[in-house]
Amino acid sequence: MAESVLLLVITKIGIALANRAVAQASSHLSKYATQLIELQRNMGRVVRELRVMHGVLCQMDIRNCNDPVYESWLDEVRKVAHVMEDMVDEYLHQVGQEHDMGCCFYLKKGLRRPRSLLSLNQITSNVREIEKELAHLADTKNRWVSMVNNGDNSNSNYIVKRSQDLANISRSLDEEDLVGMDKNREILQQWLGGEDAEFSVITVNGMGGLGKTALAANIYRKEKEKFQCHAWVSISQTYCTEDILRNIIKELFKDRVDVPSNISMMDITCLEDTLKRFLHQKKYLIVLDDVWTPEAFADLSRALVCTDKGSRVLITTREGDVAALASQGHILTLEALPEEKAWDLFCKKSFPRETCHECPYELKNLSEEIVSKCKGLPLAIVSVGSLLHVREKTVEEWRRINDQLSWEIINNPRLGHIRNVLHLSFIYLPTYLKSCFPYCSLFPEDYLFHKKKLVRLWIAEGFIVEKGASTLEEVAEGYLKELVNRNMLQLVERNSYGRMRRFKMHDIVRELAIDLCHKDHFGVHFEEGKCGGSLQRDGRRLVVQKLKKDIQQSFSGIHGLRTFIALDKNMPSFNLLPLLCDKSRYMTVLELCGLPIEKIPDAIGDLFNLRHLGLQDTKVKLLPKSIEKLSNLLTLDLCGSDIREVPAGIVKLKNLRHLFAEKENDQSNSVLRSRSGVCITKGLGNLTNLQTLQALEAQDESVRQLRELTQLRSLRILNVKGIYCERLCKSLVQMSVLSFLDVAASDENEVLMLSALPPSLQKLSLRGRLAEGTLLGESPLLQAAEKNLHELRLYWSQLREDPLPSLSRLANLTVLDFTGAYNGEKLEFLTGWFPKLKELYLWDLLNLKQLEIKQGAMTNLERLSLANLSSMVEVPTGIEFLMPLQYLGFGLITRDFLAVLRQCPGIAGMQWEHTLRD
Ligand SMILES: *[C@@H]1O[C@H](CO)[C@@H](O)[C@H](O)[C@H]1NC(C)=O
Ligand SMILES: *[C@@H]1O[C@H](CO)[C@@H](O)[C@H](O)[C@H]1NC(C)=O
Ligand SMILES: *[C@@H]1O[C@H](CO)[C@@H](O)[C@H](O)[C@H]1NC(C)=O
Ligand SMILES: *[C@@H]1O[C@H](CO)[C@@H](O)[C@H](O)[C@H]1NC(C)=O
Ligand SMILES: *[C@@H]1O[C@H](CO)[C@@H](O)[C@H](O)[C@H]1NC(C)=O
Ligand SMILES: *[C@@H]1O[C@H](CO)[C@@H](O)[C@H](O)[C@H]1NC(C)=O
Repeated sequence: MAESVLLLVITKIGIALANRAVAQASSHLSKYATQLIELQRNMGRVVRELRVMHGVLCQMDIRNCNDPVYESWLDEVRKVAHVMEDMVDEYLHQVGQEHDMGCCFYLKKGLRRPRSLLSLNQITSNVREIEKELAHLADTKNRWVSMVNNGDNSNSNYIVKRSQDLANISRSLDEEDLVGMDKNREILQQWLGGEDAEFSVITVNGMGGLGKTALAANIYRKEKEKFQCHAWVSISQTYCTEDILRNIIKELFKDRVDVPSNISMMDITCLEDTLKRFLHQKKYLIVLDDVWTPEAFADLSRALVCTDKGSRVLITTREGDVAALASQGHILTLEALPEEKAWDLFCKKSFPRETCHECPYELKNLSEEIVSKCKGLPLAIVSVGSLLHVREKTVEEWRRINDQLSWEIINNPRLGHIRNVLHLSFIYLPTYLKSCFPYCSLFPEDYLFHKKKLVRLWIAEGFIVEKGASTLEEVAEGYLKELVNRNMLQLVERNSYGRMRRFKMHDIVRELAIDLCHKDHFGVHFEEGKCGGSLQRDGRRLVVQKLKKDIQQSFSGIHGLRTFIALDKNMPSFNLLPLLCDKSRYMTVLELCGLPIEKIPDAIGDLFNLRHLGLQDTKVKLLPKSIEKLSNLLTLDLCGSDIREVPAGIVKLKNLRHLFAEKENDQSNSVLRSRSGVCITKGLGNLTNLQTLQALEAQDESVRQLRELTQLRSLRILNVKGIYCERLCKSLVQMSVLSFLDVAASDENEVLMLSALPPSLQKLSLRGRLAEGTLLGESPLLQAAEKNLHELRLYWSQLREDPLPSLSRLANLTVLDFTGAYNGEKLEFLTGWFPKLKELYLWDLLNLKQLEIKQGAMTNLERLSLANLSSMVEVPTGIEFLMPLQYLGFGLITRDFLAVLRQCPGIAGMQWEHTLRD
């Protein structure tokens, strides 16, 4: 993993050198031009050396991994790389700052030379040192570190062999081990056997250890005789098409007399021809086990004849891209075993001799804990079970294993193959994912990652580089998708229109990643009372899950700290910020969400490298003026803190991309004022990189300046008066990538007149009275929103005319919230309306008497919530057409209405919830 450390530094130097022109063009630096040029040359040489080292590390034979000499050499390289990273940050800071302040200022006023220019000397001399050290390190490597590397691609061969050993283990799992796979087996049997004469490709997909190979092997054993010929071939990522073709041919011709005699001599065309000739007119079954890239299959598919004899190709893979190669509808995705099946499998393996594989009573609780750590991975359960099978069946022994399980998985040779299964996935991650992935393991077990938040952190860490026209956020989302596709992260939740939203990391995968992080000083997850997790001298990242003592007592090495994330809201934080500001000069990510911090020291302005500052739900009331010095800041999160006013200098943070500052005020008696935001007036328009602004208190001037913020993706604006609306709309249409908009009026009687929206909008919330006609007929608002709008929430719009007929043209709507939106007595949902709607909320419609749903309306509805509909005395007609629903709720109903509901045949047999009006 050391290679990813180097990559980060290389990227950074690249950025620094790209800025070269800027630095030299600054007239004030002309005096130091020679010095600057020398420094840049030094950096150029360092980056070249690092690139070479990076290349070498990327190709390093993994067999060196446990060689202590190599490891300690690597350690030195990493240290030097870290120092270099610090120097590049210094350099970027100095050059950038000089440029901003302008030197004429100093010259004219005859002030003393800025301190920073002196540092240029220091940087130069440090970089010179680094250059020497790198040369020295390159030297020692040749002298001392004997590499297991013969110059050929024995490394790849070794990896291929390892993965084939693994495949061999999986393949030899008994039929009995396929607990809980019956259904999958049936599906595969059907796809393989079916009468369908058309050639088809079937894929089995899932993370390492789910038993893909075992399942495929089982099916293969059973079904192969139904084909005229068959072959099982293990592919690995480092494959060679010729070898695979040869293996297929060898397998196909096994036990035949007409084996082509000289296949080892054949070239690729000849192999393909041989295969084609043989498969022609035959019904064949070929299993390609563990395919890593779509290209691997593409190369083979030329030789696989697609005749209509009912031939099948079965592929197992961890990669979503490969799984997508399946013929229509023929992807089988394996999931982890449910608890009960996992338990059965565990007992079978651990207690094979006991009657019915019963777990002894006294071991039950511990066994359950052990099983839960395997998280439903059959391969892990089988391995741990077999390990326990040979141990003494005592509580002490069981407890010991349970306590050490994570350690055992990493260190016990008998469990080596679980680790290897997962380690292989890691080895084959592309370098650009090699920081993103272990980063996730710094968070606690079962931590739910929120997509946008994780993306912001990755960007702040510098893991993401711009690609073409894509923003950093888009690139990062692509990486996230790739990790999910590779089954390294698990998708837990999508939003209503199918976007990825929340993720988890599999525990066993996490354990492995933690081990890697630790080895490379990448970062530490600290939980007091649990072993491990001490911060080494130059540890770079610290995620604190639990800490009782003062941070200074717990960690000596906070000097090199660049990331500090607090997840323990009760940790002693009295002294925390002053300490970090003082000691951790290069702090980049500071996430203090929920800590009872009240004051931010002025010294925070010295953290020039800071890119992420999270003060969400803290007790901070004021930000110091020095905040304006944080010119690298990308994200400032003040949500739920006591900060109501931000310093005027905040508009100097030109790189700011995300500003969160809103608070729920429950004591407010007006529903519209239940949230408040911040006022920024002068210079708001200077924050042109802003993508998120939540929430802004509308004022004449700030609404005027909004039109400069054309990068906004997400905007919440509060306290809007009717007279701002025209200007607001003019600004909104400039925001061509805006996807979320929430507008709240200043009070219940203020009328919002919105006439235009950007067509990119996906979620829209309007709070407050709407001008009659806003949502009627050929409303320009609806026209703009027609294509992309997925969620529409209307609160207290108090419309007199029924907007549903015109809203029904929003065919892509998945959520419709209608709270106090309409004053009329009747609402009707007609056939064909809202075909994609999943959630419908009808609340606070005090006059509504009649609700009618026609058959064929909202055919995909999952949740229906009706509340505070005080005039409604009849059950909505046609509600039976919506059944069954995942959720059905009636809020604030009378006892009489409850009685009516209980009699209603339309929802009889459905689960539904209610609350009573008192
Ligand atoms: C697979 O394992 C079996 C025994 O478990 C062994 O005989 C065979 O040689 C192995 N095959 C490979 C390719 O390692
Ligand atoms: C051996 O391979 C060559 C082509 O590489 C082919 O022309 C020849 O017929 C093969 N010999 C036998 C005995 O199959
Ligand atoms: C197992 O755990 C339950 C509840 O956690 C406890 O009541 C029970 O006594 C435990 N059994 C044993 C054998 O320790
Ligand atoms: C905003 O930008 C303009 C033009 O770049 C500049 O003149 C002005 O001083 C900036 N305002 C603030 C408050 O930084
Ligand atoms: C709904 O979304 C799809 C895909 O984004 C789009 O092609 C279609 O035009 C949209 N429907 C309407 C009614 O605009
Ligand atoms: C019901 O809706 C009305 C009108 O919005 C509101 O004033 C009232 O507070 C709501 N009742 C409850 C219990 O929420």
